[in-house]
Amino acid sequence: MEKKGLLYEGKAKKLYLTEDENLVISEFKDDLTAFNGEKKSSEEGKGALNNKISTELFKLLEQNGIPTHFVKMLDDNHMLHKKVDVILIEVIVRNIATGSLTRNLGIEDGTVLPFTLVEFDYKNDELGDPKLNDQHALILGLVDFQDELDKLRRMARQVNDILKPYFAEKGLNLVDFKLEFGKDKDGNIILVDEISPDNCRFWDMKSGEKMDKDRFRQGLGGLTVAYEQVLNRILGK
Ligand code: C5P
Repeated sequence: MEKKGLLYEGKAKKLYLTEDENLVISEFKDDLTAFNGEKKSSEEGKGALNNKISTELFKLLEQNGIPTHFVKMLDDNHMLHKKVDVILIEVIVRNIATGSLTRNLGIEDGTVLPFTLVEFDYKNDELGDPKLNDQHALILGLVDFQDELDKLRRMARQVNDILKPYFAEKGLNLVDFKLEFGKDKDGNIILVDEISPDNCRFWDMKSGEKMDKDRFRQGLGGLTVAYEQVLNRILGK
């Protein structure tokens, strides 16, 4: 399968059309952005690591009954996947308080939450991805029915129920993560985008070390070394 025209360029990926109208190719870029694009950089090898990590995690989720857009990894930086209508809601799942939850609500960093929190953000760079409640999402027409919002929450919790114990076995706390969903050609809601240390937070269970994009956000350095460690733990190396 070969790349045809560029469909869309995002902050971390480029999307290309293919000869099959139902399939697209994502190119994982080495670019890094944070704080809604205000902080920018690039780390050689980051895109390939995210492609490989996402590939393994999409396969794991598919095996456990979560429908995803994943078809196959084509090479180091390219993934073939289904074309969808993206739902403009970022579904955030949190097990431990940090980041914007700590900033917005004053919950102490590192607090284990009494239950898994699922939040919605509006995927809109111009507005800075504001928080959404169900009524906002319906008024904006981001989905057609309340049932679909319930489904997004249900699927996000299922993903957490699979990934949290999976990473715990590998010595990593899955602190929080962001998921995106879309509708395939038959209108089914499926998991899309990527699942990588760019959109998940992982803390080493023993040392507490951050093994994700917070290394860039907080200027800690060692980003690709950390991402590589996440991949190696997934691969059991
Ligand atoms: O910044 P915040 O604490 O809300 O992030 C929660 C989780 O969602 C983090 O794992 C972060 O990497 C992810 N996220 C993301 N893209 C965004 C916002 C958050 O991947 N636009």
